[in-house]
Amino acid sequence: MTDELSELVTHWVRPEIRALSAYHVQDASGLVKLDAMENPYTWPDELRDEWAQLIRDTDVNRYPDPAARALSERLAETMGVPQGMRLILGNGSDEIIQMLAMALSGAGRCAMSVDPGFVMYRMIATFCGMHYVGVPLRAEDFSLDVAALKQAMQQHQPAVVFLAYPNNPTANLYDEQAIVEIIEAAPGLVVVDEAYAPFTDHSFMSLLGRYDNLLVMRTVSKMGLAGLRLGLLAGPAPWLDEFDKVRLPYNVNVLTQVSAEFALRHKAVFDAQTRQIRAERERLLAAFAELPGVQVFPSQANFILLRTRAGKADQWFEGLKARGVLIKNLNGAHPLLQDCLRPTVGKPEENRRMLEAFAEVARS
Ligand SMILES: Cc1ncc(COP(=O)(O)O)c(C=O)c1O
Repeated sequence: MTDELSELVTHWVRPEIRALSAYHVQDASGLVKLDAMENPYTWPDELRDEWAQLIRDTDVNRYPDPAARALSERLAETMGVPQGMRLILGNGSDEIIQMLAMALSGAGRCAMSVDPGFVMYRMIATFCGMHYVGVPLRAEDFSLDVAALKQAMQQHQPAVVFLAYPNNPTANLYDEQAIVEIIEAAPGLVVVDEAYAPFTDHSFMSLLGRYDNLLVMRTVSKMGLAGLRLGLLAGPAPWLDEFDKVRLPYNVNVLTQVSAEFALRHKAVFDAQTRQIRAERERLLAAFAELPGVQVFPSQANFILLRTRAGKADQWFEGLKARGVLIKNLNGAHPLLQDCLRPTVGKPEENRRMLEAFAEVARS
């Protein structure tokens, strides 16, 4: 880059954007990919054939249905959205976080979540010029520190508090009553982000409408449709009507609309896959608990948080990679995540390879 170009960029791009690092995606070529909380299972052939036919009959010369009505109805039904609540859809739930931030940002406006939490809350708040406050979880078990959250809400008056339930990257489910206390004390919105809903039996969806400031966000990514990029926000219409104004027209493309609606008609296939993932999670939790020098945290998600012996996480992460297994290294991401690794639950054979690699690196 020439000096002139560099000066231009520095002059015009906002300093808080220049200070960011772009969202990093690891190269997984040739590796067992257990780093991104994806469903490892693909579709059975019969489903693929029917889907291919449907795509063949889909026209792409016209813009898609801007309100994605057929898909929205199917989503409301399969996700148990209570009657009378509105839905808006996003290009992944990431885009929904962005819509919320765009609609709520402004001078002195704050977005709040917990740390360690989902990194996109902080990043998107920053993109949209919002002040972000992350309130630390309790170090011993990553539970919510309700007193600290209430104090921070009092001090910063957040327009929105995001709570991932279960949380990423810690995999735990917070106490339900603790979340209710936060909803009741929040000055603005509380968005319960249920990205990992397929892997737990707990949800705030049925509580929509009971609290004026509660919204629930979901995604189809973790149930097995990450490639389609589709998320949803459910809640009272007065909020969602406003957020809908910042949604780009046609944000959910026609192939996603048709494919997701089709997939949800065959939800039993995905339910069977998530049951397998849950069973494998329990097997992995038990196996990790047997590994010397490993602390395993409870998981209600499709990934597991582990702590290695002090100072070993980087070495174990590299050791796994050298053995063909890619997970996520969280060491250094946050002080509470020191020595932590986050493997995603894969297929039995992938998990077997991962456990074998863990056993080897734990011995070295
Ligand atoms: C807690 C949480 N929320 C939202 C998302 C984003 O999901 P999507 O794929 O729908 O953008 C993720 C992705 O990992 C997540 O962990």
